[in-house]
Amino acid sequence: MTTPEPTSTTEGPGQAVGSVVDLVPTLLVAGGEALARGEDGRVVFIRGALPGESVRAQITDERKGWVRAEVVDILEASPDRIEPPCPMVAQGCGGCDLQHARPSAQPGLKAAVVVDALRRLGGLEAPPVRVGIEAAAEGFRTAVRAAVVEGRAGYRRHHRHEVVVPESCLVAHPLLEELLLEGDFAEATEVTLRVAPGTGERLAVVDPSADGVVVPRDVLVVGTRALKEGRRAWIHDEVAGRRWRISARSFFQTRADGAAALVDAVARALGDDLAGARLVDAYAGVGLFTGSLLAGDLPPGLGRPVSAVAVERSSSSVADARHNLQDLPVRVIKSDVDAWRSSAADVVVADPSRAGLGRRAVEVLASTDAHVVVLVSCDAASLGRDAALLAGHGYRLEDAELVDLFPQSHHVEVVSRFAR
Ligand SMILES: C[S@@+](CC[C@H](N)C(=O)[O-])C[C@H]1O[C@@H](n2cnc3c(N)ncnc32)[C@H](O)[C@@H]1O
Repeated sequence: MTTPEPTSTTEGPGQAVGSVVDLVPTLLVAGGEALARGEDGRVVFIRGALPGESVRAQITDERKGWVRAEVVDILEASPDRIEPPCPMVAQGCGGCDLQHARPSAQPGLKAAVVVDALRRLGGLEAPPVRVGIEAAAEGFRTAVRAAVVEGRAGYRRHHRHEVVVPESCLVAHPLLEELLLEGDFAEATEVTLRVAPGTGERLAVVDPSADGVVVPRDVLVVGTRALKEGRRAWIHDEVAGRRWRISARSFFQTRADGAAALVDAVARALGDDLAGARLVDAYAGVGLFTGSLLAGDLPPGLGRPVSAVAVERSSSSVADARHNLQDLPVRVIKSDVDAWRSSAADVVVADPSRAGLGRRAVEVLASTDAHVVVLVSCDAASLGRDAALLAGHGYRLEDAELVDLFPQSHHVEVVSRFAR
């Protein structure tokens, strides 16, 4: 490949789409791009760059306050840069967007993203962020949503519609990789695959119909049309010492060992406040935190809550949670957290989707009068915003642990302890 010359090296224009510029990014930001200042002072988000290196990049998108660019050449590489270990990256697979960073450097880069968000959006001068457990960086993923082209499952290219059909997948669990590579999904447009290492069970949810699908005999296959018509389909997994029913439409973490790691991190964040507590588990899914904290495997030395209220809005997850928690002193409430008429609690665990809690949910959770809120965030920016909202109700951030569940990609998971 011939490297394009920079279109502009001096003050002035040069940041229109298609132009090529030399940049020195200073920080990885939420979304996995590296941030630099263009010569016109605008922020440039550069895909494929790492902080501290010097890159030549082509502008791909231009907006009023910022532009987006893609690396075309590395002028001076970061010591953290490596050749992506998965050959699919060179073919354009958009599944993993941080493979160009050494796995041992990735948690630190992501912790810096979290610190930046807590400073800018959370208003905290010195956010107490630390890197916690680092999970295996290969063969871990137990669930994936894939596009289907001519029967084959594939990953979309970054920010594009084209699909790359992989010949291997660095991050898929072996039970998932086999299904991903060898499944024939016939006329489907999309497929969601989930495997359960604890039991060996596997599920394929095919959109729109399972007609003509060919997969290994053990795999339970269901079409989204059949689910809409009322069919139920589920598999089971064993995590944190308990058995979980997980239905086709229910949420469960995308790596089983990561679900156990999150339970540990949440339990440690609650610490001595666990013993004898009335727990509220908001955004409870199939009941992972409630079930594990009350009766699953926990780090040694921790007490147990006495009771729990689990709040969840998805009918499918609520049905699973009622099944999974039926032996425990738990009320499972089907409600949007924003609309829940709260009851008193000592501790709250909240694990919202990427959008975070937001103003209303923070009001609702604060009205439980809990003295501790443990927030599980999968987005650095929403964590920053939620930290500011929680501060408005008297909750101070005491600790934020980055649990790196998604090596090779920019995605973060952060378990934060807020206390009044
Ligand atoms: C990130 S998942 C966490 C689930 C669970 N804590 C776990 O780790 O398996 C978020 C869950 O919140 C639910 N959810 C999303 N928005 C909600 C809302 N506004 N009110 C109640 N539940 C919501 C989703 O259905 C999903 O089950």
